[in-house]
Amino acid sequence: MATDPQVLFCVVLTLLLPLRLHTTLSPIQEKLRQPFGSIRLNAAWNVLCVTLSVLACRRWGIEMWQRGLRGMVALAGREVLRTVCSLPYIRGIVRREVAKELKAIEVSIHGNGDPTAVLELPKQGLPREEILRRIQLASAAEAAEYVGVGKKWAGIYHSPVGELVDLQNKVWGIYNCSNTLYEGVFPSVRKYEAELISWAVRLLNGARSTCGLLTSGGTESVMLAALCYRELGRSRGIATPRILAANTCHPCIVKACHYFGITLTKIPVDESTGFALRARRVRRHLTGDVVCIYASAPTFPHGVVDCIEDLGKLAERWGIGLHVDNCLGGVLLSYMDKQGLTEHQAWDFRVPGVSSISVDLHKYGNTSKGVSVIAFRDPALRRLTYVPVTDGCEGLYVTPTMQGARGGAVIAQAWATMLFFGDAGYAKFAARIHRAHKLYQDAIDAIPGLHVLCKCHACIVPVGSSKYNIYSVASLLEEKGWNLATGQLPPCLTICIGERHDEIINEFTADLRAAVDFLDATPSYKPSGAAAVYGAMPTTPTAVLEEVVRSYVDMRMSIKQAES
Ligand SMILES: *Cc1c(COP(=O)(O)O)cnc(C)c1O
Ligand SMILES: *[C@@H]1O[C@H](CO)[C@@H](O)[C@H](O)[C@H]1NC(C)=O
Ligand SMILES: *[C@@H]1O[C@H](CO)[C@@H](O)[C@H](O)[C@H]1NC(C)=O
Repeated sequence: MATDPQVLFCVVLTLLLPLRLHTTLSPIQEKLRQPFGSIRLNAAWNVLCVTLSVLACRRWGIEMWQRGLRGMVALAGREVLRTVCSLPYIRGIVRREVAKELKAIEVSIHGNGDPTAVLELPKQGLPREEILRRIQLASAAEAAEYVGVGKKWAGIYHSPVGELVDLQNKVWGIYNCSNTLYEGVFPSVRKYEAELISWAVRLLNGARSTCGLLTSGGTESVMLAALCYRELGRSRGIATPRILAANTCHPCIVKACHYFGITLTKIPVDESTGFALRARRVRRHLTGDVVCIYASAPTFPHGVVDCIEDLGKLAERWGIGLHVDNCLGGVLLSYMDKQGLTEHQAWDFRVPGVSSISVDLHKYGNTSKGVSVIAFRDPALRRLTYVPVTDGCEGLYVTPTMQGARGGAVIAQAWATMLFFGDAGYAKFAARIHRAHKLYQDAIDAIPGLHVLCKCHACIVPVGSSKYNIYSVASLLEEKGWNLATGQLPPCLTICIGERHDEIINEFTADLRAAVDFLDATPSYKPSGAAAVYGAMPTTPTAVLEEVVRSYVDMRMSIKQAES
């Protein structure tokens, strides 16, 4: 974070300030003393210096207080690390290590290059059969390995088979050529969009006046929420608004704050709070510039639903917004709740302080990617996100979200999918996911040396270990073809439960047992792949990590031809 060295600097400055002011300004004081020469001037002088330093202390003291002792120690540690890493000798080592890491990433993406790479358009178009042949060749392995089977979980929460897929494909075809910008030409798409919003709002127990927008995904939904609170803050005269979130928040709120010039304060949550954001922790960060608290239902790393009823009371008392990120748990939590399967505080519009909720339909809603809803309790909040353009040569222009032209196919398809399942379908689905979630927790707790990290409320099972390096476990599972997420703070491995995870639980536990047995026999094992990167993270300076991550995006967006 860019402010870190600044804070350290401030601390030192706060201590030195009175002294500094005295010495730099004393010539002036001398000059003043000559004509006036009174003791009163001396007293006034001291009061001025102390006042200035108290003001500074107040500003920076709050910052220190918010970080807490641990935060300050961590900050100091990072500063020391940064200084050490800037020594020329160390810098050389770091540079070589980074280059090695980047090479490994490049190989994992591009291998030895792509023999079928096409760097520029061919002079003549290709025949239809040839294109389909190429696509079939390229996608065959992916479809078999990834989709819906669970082992290679890829953020696909349902298994796209049978009648559902047939319906989705048909609808997609019908709307292959549509544009939401022209609702006069495509009134049916406008209707689907409005109905999807209405269904989501009902699911979240919204009132009649509760409203929303259909977006391209959770990230865009959260962006629009952040934007509305920034505008709300500005309307109240807050020039640099702040959002408070737990450090378990999804990265999309970090992006949102970065894009919109909002300050984000991440509040650490840990074992002592069950990895949930609690009102107690948030209260001491409530300064005058806070416009919104951001909570999750549930969090992506741990599947924990934050204490949203308590946070709602806090938000109401302070007159600020409370955004609930229900992107991951959208639809699923609602249908678990209807069947009495939830064991956490309410998270939706039944909680009076909740002012907006983001809910992804393209996760547990079973729709194809590209569909999410941002719901607002108060229509006035929604209107803060609109950007009407009235002075352009185009005439009057406004779109409901961040996007301009959008295809209608994904919207129509989502509409068809949700209608196809209805309440009964989703209820069955939620019960199945809930059962699998419990099964996985029991299976992990039965393996000595591994444990479920905390009370997880839905869909995610975070696995920790007091005995093994959990990244080594993840790396061994990766070798067996499992594609699992890992997290940090604390180190953990996470399983996101998809529709058919219950079918593969035996295979999973067998591989997991084999992994820990292997580690018992081979304590010197070093993790490889993504797991190794995670293992090295705590000791790697932020600037180096950012460099690696930026290069990763560059590599992903490039094509490498095979050498002939
Ligand atoms: C998936 C997710 C998001 C972001 O959604 P995208 O659809 O990937 O843009 C935000 N928050 C949580 C908790 C999520 O799980
Ligand atoms: C694709 O869209 C066009 C134009 O709307 C339509 O005529 C055609 O039938 C659609 N394709 C399919 C497969 O439905
Ligand atoms: C999602 O799709 C699968 C079939 O592909 C179905 O079994 C499951 O119940 C669906 N989920 C919902 C929410 O209905």
